[in-house]
Amino acid sequence: MISNEIIEEIKKKANIVDIISSYIPLTKKGRNYFGLCPFHDDHSPSMSVSPEKNIYTCFVCGATGNAITFVMNYENVSYLEALKILANKLGITLNIKETYKKKDNYDHLYEIYDFSNKFYQNNLNTSSGHEAREYLKNRGIDEDIIKEFKIGLALSYDKSLTKLLIQKGYKEQDLVDIGLTNKNDYGYQDLFVNRIMFPLWNTEGKIIGYSGRIYNNEDTAKYINTKETIIFKKGLNLYNYHRAKNVVRSSGSVIIMEGFMDVIRAYSVGIKNVVATMGTALTPEQAQLVKKLSHNVILCFDGDKAGNKATFACGNELLNIGINPKVVRLESNLDPDEYIIKFGVKKFNEKLNNCISFLDFKLNYYKEGKNLNNNEDLTQYINEIITEIKGIDDEILRELTLKKISEEINISFETLMSKLFNEINRDMENLRNETLNNFPEMPDEEQNFYMPEFKPKKANKKIVVKPVVGNKYDKAEKTILYFLLTDKEMSYKLENSLPYLPTKICRFLAHEIMYFVKKYDTIAISDFLNYLDSKTELVNLVGEILNSKDKNIYSQEEIPDCIAVLKEYNLKNEMDRLNALLKSETDLEKKIELANRIMSLKMGVENNERNQNV
Ligand code: UTP
Ligand code: MN
Repeated sequence: MISNEIIEEIKKKANIVDIISSYIPLTKKGRNYFGLCPFHDDHSPSMSVSPEKNIYTCFVCGATGNAITFVMNYENVSYLEALKILANKLGITLNIKETYKKKDNYDHLYEIYDFSNKFYQNNLNTSSGHEAREYLKNRGIDEDIIKEFKIGLALSYDKSLTKLLIQKGYKEQDLVDIGLTNKNDYGYQDLFVNRIMFPLWNTEGKIIGYSGRIYNNEDTAKYINTKETIIFKKGLNLYNYHRAKNVVRSSGSVIIMEGFMDVIRAYSVGIKNVVATMGTALTPEQAQLVKKLSHNVILCFDGDKAGNKATFACGNELLNIGINPKVVRLESNLDPDEYIIKFGVKKFNEKLNNCISFLDFKLNYYKEGKNLNNNEDLTQYINEIITEIKGIDDEILRELTLKKISEEINISFETLMSKLFNEINRDMENLRNETLNNFPEMPDEEQNFYMPEFKPKKANKKIVVKPVVGNKYDKAEKTILYFLLTDKEMSYKLENSLPYLPTKICRFLAHEIMYFVKKYDTIAISDFLNYLDSKTELVNLVGEILNSKDKNIYSQEEIPDCIAVLKEYNLKNEMDRLNALLKSETDLEKKIELANRIMSLKMGVENNERNQNV
């Protein structure tokens, strides 16, 4: 254990800026430091580090914490391990009595497994192993692979492993406990008979169990696996993890398959960065193991329906911990083993190189089993898709995806976009209410883990002045924002009529203002800036708008015009999209339909323009 005094010393000496910049480059901006957030796929520095508060916070993905949580999350380690790493960085010596990482004294159990594996391997080479050898040969599993994967053979009851182990002095109960032996009316008997034995390893590379496969068409379970034991925890291990961990660094990615036969096949043709879940759902612990290997994950499950479902479940489990996997789907219900045998490694590698995003996989997945001409199915599909699209951070990808869907299901981009926007707003509102209602009360010394709650106070933020330039849409957005920032009534007036603002940051700011006004019934700028806190981009935008030369020419009467201009912009966007579609459409009926839609939109735009001129 590490004493409390030492923990306190570590906490005190751990300067958050020093610690984080030992992992990622930070740049100072004002009082805070900024860097690319390592906890999501960040493209512009969204992580701010505050030396005063001794915390970091990412204003995109929300990751927040202190030096200890940073190390825990970055290195994927426990609290105690993080303390050790920090102590090491800070030159603090720990007098750890290694009790917390109690070295397991299961050595004698691993020894039994090693022995059993030698026994099984030897069986395969005896004359009784002929049929099993033929089976493996027919499956294209050669001598080298048999050796590498330590494949063996369990023979009949009279060639008993149990008997031998007892003779060697191992305790019967241990053999039962680790899943090699059964106790029944006949006494102690082997659990595996007449099966080809595939050893299973733990993450350190120790054999901890078996999967035994039938090889002579017996009408029983294809595989029998070791049950859960004190050393075999299926959900905490992945097949081939101990080998894969040495190769993923060079390959830069890890492939997850369902079956260990698939892994063995891939390995034998030189694809070694592979692990297998062994036919069960990916547990959160296994997901963490994968994350430790690489953040670049490819799911390559069986080509059948079950494999499709498993891909969906496994991908979501990975998403939960910030990994966005890629997907390979194999045709004709083949599993990777069969695919490689049938089409060769070159073709398989092509598949791996052309994997699709998990998002694209899901968009297809939701379509399956639905009749999109049926309104109920279609509505369900749209709801599922909108929920997915909400999760996309990248605004371009989001719009492209919406466009694609809108073309596919023949519902206008604008309708989908406004549905999306409404849902995002509702989620944000819910999230805020939750956070404000459930703000945890922490003991004093733990307070650094959390962002302090917002309390209005005087702020002296430096305001960056940039002239407002740009087209009429830009001006319309800024005008609306100007009045939202200077008149709280504007927020109430526009509550239900604010159009979709084309620029993301403007949209975001409008939302923040309206939220703030709703909550505090004021738009006192110093308080609002303080509320925005580390969202520098927004703070800068507020400065830009309030200090713009143009503000003198803004007038409240322009607001309806601004709204009309933005509506027109959105309409035009939609029309461009339809026009492009029209060009590429070959089906005459669809062409006519598109032309009709463009016509009716055009009339909308003209009406809009006419109204502006009145
Ligand atoms: P599969 O049925 O896809 O096996 O199950 P496979 O990899 O194609 O095996 P072969 O090619 O028929 O030899 C995938 C995984 O599910 C587990 C195994 O771990 C297997 O690797 N499984 C499958 C069982 O545990 N028991 C079974 O009866 C079947
Ligand atoms: Mn198979």
